[in-house]
Amino acid sequence: MSNTMKQVVLAAYPCGNPGPSDFRIEEVPVPEAGAREILLRTLYIALDPLIRFSLDEKVLSGASRMVPNAVMIGPTVCEVAASNHPDYAPGDVVEGRSGWQEYSVVAPDQSDYRGPPRKVDRALAPVSTALGALGGPGQTAYEGIVKVGRVAAGETVVISAAAGAVGSIAGQIVKVLGARAVGIAGGTVKCAALLDLGFDAVADYKAPDFADQLKTALPEGANVYLDNVGGDVTLAVMPHLKRGARMPMCGFIAYYGVGMEGPGPDHLPGFYRQIMAKGLEIKGFAGIFGGQKGLEDIAGWMKAGKIRFAESMVEGIEAAPQAFSSVFSGHDHVGKLLVRVAPEA
Ligand SMILES: NC(=O)c1ccc[n+]([C@@H]2O[C@H](COP(=O)([O-])OP(=O)(O)OC[C@H]3O[C@@H](n4cnc5c(N)ncnc54)[C@H](OP(=O)(O)O)[C@@H]3O)[C@@H](O)[C@H]2O)c1
Repeated sequence: MSNTMKQVVLAAYPCGNPGPSDFRIEEVPVPEAGAREILLRTLYIALDPLIRFSLDEKVLSGASRMVPNAVMIGPTVCEVAASNHPDYAPGDVVEGRSGWQEYSVVAPDQSDYRGPPRKVDRALAPVSTALGALGGPGQTAYEGIVKVGRVAAGETVVISAAAGAVGSIAGQIVKVLGARAVGIAGGTVKCAALLDLGFDAVADYKAPDFADQLKTALPEGANVYLDNVGGDVTLAVMPHLKRGARMPMCGFIAYYGVGMEGPGPDHLPGFYRQIMAKGLEIKGFAGIFGGQKGLEDIAGWMKAGKIRFAESMVEGIEAAPQAFSSVFSGHDHVGKLLVRVAPEA
């Protein structure tokens, strides 16, 4: 094992969407685990869009704020390389939030509200799924579709950013529940992948005929809209929502780079009119507070062959800044986008 390791730090607060120059790669000594601490070797890093909230000088929501020169935060799957804690043994695989670095030292007794690093069951599925279908994104998809969306058999559900980590699982849960799944994604590659995952219809929001595609995909409108995006996509979906439709508001990635006061025309008058006139139910939610039930159900559906996990890899920690930037500027990856930092033992 080398005495040094690489880590990615925030070089400057991004202006708009983050770009590779907002980050810097540094070489530093590998830390040592102290009393009741564990040394983690990072295997995978999840490039979650919500990390963007922490990269503003003025924080957008309850997110923790990062300062320049600090190691980038983010969920990871790691292998325990050394342990001075009785609950963890070398070779255990854990899911935690150790950030964009090759090694980290964690004190399980001093963890935040998310709890100590969660042990990952290697027998259940590839360990990387602890950051996707069997982790936060799966939990969020379940919360949005089952609990907040209350999707019932025979209903139609439309999902934005459907080819992402949350959307790709959400659409498959819709199918398990006996409802119709319509996915919105950018580009023909992603739309084809959604049909392959079992979505009933798709609409490509980057195509010039997006409005027509949406109309064809939703001939009788939608009962539920799982909104991951906001912006123009949501404005295009709103007229298709049925009276009393539910709108679990999962995310609004189209606005993550604009802070609290975005530029452009104010679409709120039309938005408000439709909420009132159609009696829409709009509810924001946080998937991580959804509990274990969702993950257990998804694991069962995966075992039964009813849900497939989708993930894409970029290789090496040096690739993280560019890959994170592409989450906001567009890419052809389907499912959870991960950085493979090191091979599994
Ligand atoms: N509420 C919660 O607890 C919770 C938890 C996890 C995630 N989220 C939110 O849920 C959403 C999806 O997360 P995820 O983990 O599935 O992310 P993801 O796998 O990284 O997918 C994000 C996708 O959003 C699409 N996108 C980006 N900018 C866009 C824009 N301006 N307009 C339309 N589409 C855009 C891109 O796909 P295309 O190429 O198709 O455009 C991108 O790949 C995000 O908003 C995220 O912040 C919420």
